[in-house]
Amino acid sequence: MAERVALVASERGLRVDPDLPLASAALADAGVGVDLVRWDDGAVDWSAYDLVVVRSCWDYAWRLEEFLGWAGSVPRLRNPAEVLRWNTDKTYVRELERAGLPVVPTVWDPAGADDLPEAGEWVVKPSVSAGSRDTARWTTPEEALAHSSSLTGAGRTAMVQPYLASVDDVGETALLFIGGRLSHAVRKGPLLARGEGVRQDRDSRGDLAPTTPTDAQRQLATAVLDAVPGLVGVTSPPLYARIDLVEDGAGRPVVLELELTEPSLFLPQAPAAAANLVRAVEAELSR
Ligand SMILES: Nc1ncnc2c1ncn2[C@@H]1O[C@H](COP(=O)(O)OP(=O)(O)O)[C@@H](O)[C@H]1O
Ligand SMILES: [Mg+2]
Repeated sequence: MAERVALVASERGLRVDPDLPLASAALADAGVGVDLVRWDDGAVDWSAYDLVVVRSCWDYAWRLEEFLGWAGSVPRLRNPAEVLRWNTDKTYVRELERAGLPVVPTVWDPAGADDLPEAGEWVVKPSVSAGSRDTARWTTPEEALAHSSSLTGAGRTAMVQPYLASVDDVGETALLFIGGRLSHAVRKGPLLARGEGVRQDRDSRGDLAPTTPTDAQRQLATAVLDAVPGLVGVTSPPLYARIDLVEDGAGRPVVLELELTEPSLFLPQAPAAAANLVRAVEAELSR
């Protein structure tokens, strides 16, 4: 009997995630039975699958405990629930920093202007968020503080970072690791416009292009991925990982985000990478 794999998404992810048709077609071509399912569909028997792969669960940020509870209940989930629990809160950035990995300088829950990182512009974001929700770029300390206080006041953890101007010209580089190996890389353009404030409807999928990572980017991303099992307390590398790097003021790569939950894999930008996903899924199935 063919093995059965579920690719899991939110209601919206199922409709619009451009990775899903490419991933499911590649798996089906390889003889794997694929279902595209909503994570919050109560009628699904998760134990019937040989592997359940989290994909575009884009609504987890405002349903975090429900999502993690679901993840904990699914046998054979990738990435596994422990990884999702660790990765859905960007406080992991602090752990990467403590492990000696260069990250975007971040101040957590600043109490006043003296706490803000030195910068001419700031980015404020909640530690639990995706798709740049509740995230904004500010040109005055007052605005940055007001935003971070509103997040803290709502019981969230606020992150304040210098706005890294390199994002406006060289952009952000996303390195995709599938089955523990570098698969491909994509350059993303800037997302936060000056003066725009908080917006909930940004679309990061417009400005994407395949790119070749530099040696420094490759080395840093590999070091980050190698640190994951030790930091999370798991033995195997994640099935999928996206490491988003930006450049600091000196042109060195630093980690903006380590996405082990529901990273877009950018398969439309790198269609050949679907074969890497098939190989990695097959390796998991034969474990
Ligand atoms: N410190 C920063 N400097 C410049 N741009 C940033 C910074 N932090 C975030 N951004 C922009 O905001 C986007 C979303 O922020 P990110 O930290 O990746 O969170 P998420 O993707 O989970 O919403 C990034 O892709 C980038 O364009
Ligand atoms: Mg991001």
